[in-house]
Amino acid sequence: MKVDVLLGLQWGDEGKGKVVDVLTSKYDIIARFQGGPNAGHTLEFDGIKHVLHTIPSGIFHKGVVNLIGNGVVIDPIIFQNEIIAIEKLDVTISELLISKKAHLILPTHKLIDAASEKAKGSKKIGSTLKGIGPTYMDKTGRNGLRVGDITSEAFREKYEKLKKKHIQILNFYDYKYDLLEIENKWFQSLETLKKFKHIESEHYLHNAIKENKKILAEGAQGSLLDIDFGSYPFVTSSNTITAGACTGLGVSPKNIGEVYGIFKAYCTRVGSGPFPTELFDDDGKKLAKVGNEFGATTGRPRRCGWIDIPALKYAIKINGVTQLMMMKADVLSGIRTIKACTHYTLEDKKIDYLPFDDNSMLKPIFKELKGWEMNLMKLTDLSNAPEELHNYITWLENVLEIKITIVSVGPDRKQTLFR
Ligand code: GDP
Ligand code: IMO
Ligand code: MG
Repeated sequence: MKVDVLLGLQWGDEGKGKVVDVLTSKYDIIARFQGGPNAGHTLEFDGIKHVLHTIPSGIFHKGVVNLIGNGVVIDPIIFQNEIIAIEKLDVTISELLISKKAHLILPTHKLIDAASEKAKGSKKIGSTLKGIGPTYMDKTGRNGLRVGDITSEAFREKYEKLKKKHIQILNFYDYKYDLLEIENKWFQSLETLKKFKHIESEHYLHNAIKENKKILAEGAQGSLLDIDFGSYPFVTSSNTITAGACTGLGVSPKNIGEVYGIFKAYCTRVGSGPFPTELFDDDGKKLAKVGNEFGATTGRPRRCGWIDIPALKYAIKINGVTQLMMMKADVLSGIRTIKACTHYTLEDKKIDYLPFDDNSMLKPIFKELKGWEMNLMKLTDLSNAPEELHNYITWLENVLEIKITIVSVGPDRKQTLFR
């Protein structure tokens, strides 16, 4: 059995959490493969609205195993808060396993993130300030602490050593901080982390593959935030693409099956960085309002724009997408003319790719498509959808050369139309 991968094709917040939750009933294991609590994955079902940050989005399905893979970075305090929030919901949750090789976000990682952003001034990345960059820096710098270290006798010593290094880094910045309180909380929260089974998840997944278990790898962020292929330096610090599922879970490329590429029917971005199709007019305001475009982790308003075909094609290519899923189609209702960027102009030249730099100088060239009035949120079958929506879907399938298998028309689990 192959491992299917589900990931975002834009700048994150495409609706990955919702789709993972919808698809979980077809799977035995849901495995998150990268990122950390910079992610905010929203699920809505049975009148419950819930945001997950570290925990995979299959957690609300009984009998399914959820796994936090080695590629994920974990903040024990946020993890503990997530567990408490889930327990309060009074719903059955499934088993949760954690890779021993997942790295820990220390309180000082968060401080360095904040100090670094402050020092960058107007050139800041717009980080979620969850300590993601500094934690991955320590991982690749071979200094990090991992989940498997928590129970070792030398843990406190290792922690103090890394903290000392971090304090030296913090001294470099003009940044005031108070570590004691958050540090105490951090150590307390490790007790919650210890309650879960810590495993060598690569072996677990290999056995599961052998036993024909169905596995879905859940991505975080989006392809255009990928550390290698995103709009660097305005990116996150992990590989958000399909390849990240291999390294973030220990699954070989030959074991990858379907790759579900999730995209919004328009486009959003939270944080800094180029966004060629960004809107500053009434259409942009409408997308933000109707789409309720506020970050699920930080609450920051998301920048909104039209769909960007060259960027989507790029993401499809580097991910090897086999199926597309279009989210938030309902948000476009009532927009008379929908625009889709097919090319850019750069210094009077027409191009259809994202160049190495100067992405902020790109001017989008739009194709116009007729919109629809109908509210889609109550649709239960696409056969009753307006002709203009069918035309938009067919046009996208033609230019992207991949089939769209799901159209989402609302945040709830039930507002999901299969094709
Ligand atoms: P993720 O990070 O990719 O999981 O996405 P987020 O949860 O950060 O953001 C997606 C937002 O859109 C959440 O508030 C979802 O509840 C909401 N959402 C998901 N699908 C739809 C949809 O089809 N229509 C509408 N209106 N909202 C949706
Ligand atoms: P989900 O999984 C949207 C953005 C931040 C910032 C940049 C770097 O919910 O789609 P970081 O904290 O990683 O150092 O921030 O990446 N970013 C996200 N934007 N959705 C996310 O996750 C994001 N995670 C990080 O806004 O621009
Ligand atoms: Mg999100």
